[in-house]
Amino acid sequence: MDPRLAPLFAPFSLRDLKLANRIVMAPMTRGYSPHGVPTDEVAAYYRRRAEAGVGLIITEGVGVDHPAALGGSGVDGDNAPHMYGSAALDGWRHVVDEIHAAGGAVMPQLWHQGVMREMGTGPHPEVASVRPSGIWGPLDKTAMVSPDYLANIAQKPGRPMTDEEVVDVIEAFARSARWAMDVGFDGIAIHGAHGYMVDDFLWEGTNQRNDRWGGDHIGRAAFAVELIKAIRREIGPEPVINFRFSQWKQQDIHARLAETPEQLGEILGPIADAGVDIFDASQRYFDKAEFAGSPLNLAGWAKKLTGKAGQTVGGVGLSSGVYDSRKDGGSGAALANVHKVAERLADGEFDLVGVGRALLHDPAWPRRIREGDTLLPYDEASRHVLTLNWRGKNGKSRWLAGTTPRTDH
Ligand SMILES: Cc1cc2nc3c(=O)[nH]c(=O)nc-3n(C[C@H](O)[C@H](O)[C@H](O)COP(=O)(O)O)c2cc1C
Repeated sequence: MDPRLAPLFAPFSLRDLKLANRIVMAPMTRGYSPHGVPTDEVAAYYRRRAEAGVGLIITEGVGVDHPAALGGSGVDGDNAPHMYGSAALDGWRHVVDEIHAAGGAVMPQLWHQGVMREMGTGPHPEVASVRPSGIWGPLDKTAMVSPDYLANIAQKPGRPMTDEEVVDVIEAFARSARWAMDVGFDGIAIHGAHGYMVDDFLWEGTNQRNDRWGGDHIGRAAFAVELIKAIRREIGPEPVINFRFSQWKQQDIHARLAETPEQLGEILGPIADAGVDIFDASQRYFDKAEFAGSPLNLAGWAKKLTGKAGQTVGGVGLSSGVYDSRKDGGSGAALANVHKVAERLADGEFDLVGVGRALLHDPAWPRRIREGDTLLPYDEASRHVLTLNWRGKNGKSRWLAGTTPRTDH
């Protein structure tokens, strides 16, 4: 192995979480779990990545035990997995066993779509979506959603959530976390990013409340704090909790939760104190400095401000970020930035490295890195692998036209 890449292959240990290396498969939504039940195909898909040497797999977003958790702008129909119900939990047990048999570790990404869920979709189309302030967000920003979706969802404001409804969602996360630990997962990952429910409370564009769940940036973190406390109460002190957050939102690619390191510390500090162990800072480009005057990226700041572990992501092994490659139909491979991320890892800026599209396209990516094989360029057709059932109303993929899916995924 090229010694410059060795930091990626150093083991990582945090309480009862023991990882063979620092490579983390980033959560990527699929659409392959009919009625929310992960199949043998799902287990085989993740097992292939573990066999090739991924240290930790974070699954696709998994719906928590709440009727409005899942729906459109995730995966249409009822094909996104659930973390409730005996059939889904049995399916997950098999997925976890397969990953463990291959020497890997896995956390489910617990997900509630919040304002992003289209009314009338998902496992409970009869149930209205729940939104902290009734709104989807500002409509005049650079949104990363399809025009069809936007027309359907954003113009239909609802009402703010009641206190009871807020607590129901928190309890749904806690229940699903408990069941996930019961089936053998190695910890819990929370989707607190990209404009979904947890982020809807964090962001002023979707949270305009003035009660205990809102106010300023500190008040808007109260939901995440109570959520983590509730999960901790359910799963106990040992299991590791990984919390994903982002500045950007699908409603507004330029949104920011925090304009300064001080603000970021005020938001993340109480969330860390509530029981988070790893902050997964979602960026489109890991090498982008987050605040002027320092080269630290968002994960670096999260680690520095909270003292917790940091996990970075964004374009590792590829020359363009997640939205740019969608626009361009793909992305070149970029070994140079794998060297760069390994160097920053060795410097202690962050502890873990998330890899998304490169691992979606090429299950053997970690082996290729270790053995010095040429990296493959990313083809957007690989997105079909995940979004086979992610269709618009005309039955066509929302994201692709005229591309050929790989079948050896
Ligand atoms: C097809 C696809 C589905 C994704 N689904 C999720 C998801 O369910 N949850 C999440 O937090 N991020 C999701 N993401 C974002 C990735 O986890 C990751 O942050 C992003 O792709 C950047 O990493 P990359 O440049 O290595 O691909 C998804 C990305 C892609 C490409």
